[in-house]
Amino acid sequence: MEPADGSSPGPALEEGIASVFSSAPALMETDGFSNRLKEFLDLHSVAAGGGRKVVCITSGGTTVPLEQRCVRYIDNFSSGHRGAAAAEYFIEAGYAVVFLYRIGSVLPYTRSLPDEPLLECLELDDDSNIRVRKSCAEAVKKYHAAVAGNLLIKLPFTTIFEYLQMLQIVAQAMKPLGRYAMLFLAAAVSDFYIPWQSMAEHKIQSASGPLDMRLVQVPKMLSILRTEWSPLAFCISFKLETDSKILLEKADMALRKYKMHMVVANELQTRKEEVIVVTLDEKIPVHRDKSQPDSDVEQPLVELIVDKHSTYINNHR
Ligand code: PMT
Repeated sequence: MEPADGSSPGPALEEGIASVFSSAPALMETDGFSNRLKEFLDLHSVAAGGGRKVVCITSGGTTVPLEQRCVRYIDNFSSGHRGAAAAEYFIEAGYAVVFLYRIGSVLPYTRSLPDEPLLECLELDDDSNIRVRKSCAEAVKKYHAAVAGNLLIKLPFTTIFEYLQMLQIVAQAMKPLGRYAMLFLAAAVSDFYIPWQSMAEHKIQSASGPLDMRLVQVPKMLSILRTEWSPLAFCISFKLETDSKILLEKADMALRKYKMHMVVANELQTRKEEVIVVTLDEKIPVHRDKSQPDSDVEQPLVELIVDKHSTYINNHR
């Protein structure tokens, strides 16, 4: 298998990664997620006659627990809107979507629903039969069509430990898809964490006075993902900043350092209006169509990415 650039992540990084994984509590496979994932991916493999492009979308923020029996945690900002909207557009474009998401963040096909969907999407007719309100029917239909067509699998995480282990499993499982695989890494991933073995077991007591704790840096998994987990997958990472002056420089650095195919640069305040897609050759601004009230930036963004992914596949045929 062709490595991404011939380089390996380097001994210090490998050590950091090994230490996160060795300190992580084992994944609770309560819903047999590895098997569900394998079945899903097998359906789309060339060998099974599928030959469909598959994108893993990561979405929502990871948490960093402060106690093993967790009462308190540090959270990363992300509503999950970007990931959920992108999932819908990728499915529309013919992709199968592995949606790795933070529990409680926005899910595909729920963006247009009211805040209390269960109560507000259902209504009673004169005979007390429950039916779906017309305003919600379109989203409900699209969701069921995606699931029935085996085009969407949802895999939930909460903590940084769960996220990293699941990302590794998904990326490795997608490796046989070669260039048909894509990773769209929109999740807001913690940069610092407390290793499991140095974490308090029980709830930290406030009576003990001010809290001093040391957080260790989470190594970026992007290089090992490119070189080992899924070396041929088309890889897109995101760069979020609040200071527009450093945004493009940081995105460019990430592109080169982690050998991403694209980095999507976005600023917190304007992320719903504009993003800039950074590649080795170009910086492409992508805007929401302001003339359409319900438009979003994810639609043109996904169109652009689908086009670049096709070129990537065709150039290596
Ligand atoms: O969900 P919304 O509210 O719609 O908002 C979308 C978004 C702003 C969260 C999204 O567009 C976005 O920018 N996501 C990435 C945010 C982020 O974590 O940026 P970063 O600079 O910390 O990380 C850059 C990349 O490295 C990310 O692709 C991340 O997945 C990856 N990373 C980060 C930390 C880490 N330890 N390991 C990583 O691999």
